[in-house]
Amino acid sequence: MENVFVIDHPLVKRDLTLLRDRGTPSNLFRAILRRMASLMAYEVTRDLNVKEVGIKTPLEKTRGSVVAQPVILVPILRAGLGLVGGFVEVIPDARVGHIGLYRDEDTLRPVDYYFKVPKNLKNALVLILDPMLATGGSGSAAIAYLKDKGARNIRFVSLVAAPEGVETIVKTHPDVKIFTCSLDRGLNRRGYILPGLGDAGDRIFGTE
Ligand code: PRP
Ligand code: URA
Repeated sequence: MENVFVIDHPLVKRDLTLLRDRGTPSNLFRAILRRMASLMAYEVTRDLNVKEVGIKTPLEKTRGSVVAQPVILVPILRAGLGLVGGFVEVIPDARVGHIGLYRDEDTLRPVDYYFKVPKNLKNALVLILDPMLATGGSGSAAIAYLKDKGARNIRFVSLVAAPEGVETIVKTHPDVKIFTCSLDRGLNRRGYILPGLGDAGDRIFGTE
C-alpha cells in the first residue's frame, strides 16, 4: 500500500520488543516510548520543507537550513500523550493540539470528549500521534475532525497497526499517510491488536 510506511530501523525494532514484553514496567515503558518517538520523528518528517539561510561560522560565511513548514502534533488522549515528549525533543517549535477519544468497550466505536487544536492548520504538517491503530475508528474520527478544522496535510503516526485499522484509514482517508513501526497480525474479539502490546494507555499510566 503506497500510503503505508513501516519504520523498521533496528533500534526501533529493539525498543518495540521491549514495549511488547509484558514484564516491562510503566516507568520503563514511558522512557522507551519517548525514545522511540524521537526515532520515529526523524522518519516521519524526512521530507519536511526547509529554507536555505546564510549564516557565519566562527571562520567564514556559509549556507544552512531552517525548517520552513509549521508542524502540529495532535496526540489522541490518553495514549498519544506518551509520544509527545519524544517528538517535541527533536521538533521543539511544534505546536500541540489534543483530541480526547476513548473506545466504547462493547461497540468498539470511538466516543469523543475533548478537542483543542491550534489555529492555522491549513499550511501545517499535522501529525496525529497514537501508539495503537486497531479498528481505525479513533484514527478515522480524529482525521475527520482535523480536516473539518482545515488541516490538509495529515499523517497518522502509530507504534503498532492492525491490518483492519490500516484498511479503514486507507479507505476513508486515502490522502493520509500512515507511519507505523509494525504491521501486526490482526485483532482479537475484544478489538485488541495481536500480538500487540496490550492496552497502551494503561501501560503508560499504570492503570491496568
Ligand atoms: C486506544 C488507543 C487508540 C484506540 C485504538 O485508546 O490509544 O486511541 O484505542 O483503537 P481503534 O483503532 O479501534 O479506535 P483507548 O480507547 O483505549 O483510550 P485510552 O488511550 O484513553 O486508554
Ligand atoms: N487500544 C490499545 O491500547 N491496545 C490495543 O491493542 C487496541 C486498542
